[in-house]
Amino acid sequence: MSDWNTETAEWYAHKYGEYPTNKLGIEALKLPDNSIVIDIGCGTGCALRHAAKQVTQGILIGVDPVPRMIEIAREKTTSDSTASNIIFKVGSAEDIPIENNSADFILAFDSFDHWENQQQGLKEIHRVLKPDGHFIIVKDGGLPNNTEARQSFLDILEHSTFKIIEEQTIEDDEVLFTLWICKNE
Ligand SMILES: C[S@@+](CC[C@H](N)C(=O)[O-])C[C@H]1O[C@@H](n2cnc3c(N)ncnc32)[C@H](O)[C@@H]1O
Repeated sequence: MSDWNTETAEWYAHKYGEYPTNKLGIEALKLPDNSIVIDIGCGTGCALRHAAKQVTQGILIGVDPVPRMIEIAREKTTSDSTASNIIFKVGSAEDIPIENNSADFILAFDSFDHWENQQQGLKEIHRVLKPDGHFIIVKDGGLPNNTEARQSFLDILEHSTFKIIEEQTIEDDEVLFTLWICKNE
């Protein structure tokens, strides 16, 4: 059973609601201004508010299974006048409330490890992503070489339709994380 509920949503938003991986990860991506971007496990919507500075003509959709998290994301975004092209929906990686072949970019910033069923989530990402779209995974703390955690992550991707085309480790004073850019094979 998931640990994510109203209480943990409020705790997360208070403590990590503007976590630096969101800003730094989006800055590393340089999204085209007319992109359709979906953020799975969007939390407070922080990554999408940063993405809206690059994606001025496109659409940004945040999806999270916790209704309270989506309320918080909407509250924070309403007060941001540069983010009028962001919408939020309750949904999960395993059941994304969006039609087939619609996204140029799907983000999973620190959410992949919280999915209930990663294989099912990856099938859903495959369904919703355009054939030439990109799936971006961020993991806070990174995944050092030759560790079991890294191998099991690579194994899960290997058994999906996705192939890693780029890996970046990004570090500043506050955080170190890894960002993977994946494409459908
Ligand atoms: C560590 S938080 C990361 C939030 C945000 N992406 C960020 O980086 O600040 C993990 C998020 O995953 C969401 N989550 C939990 N189960 C999920 C699932 N099955 N599918 C998609 N997201 C899920 C949680 O509600 C939570 O918002």
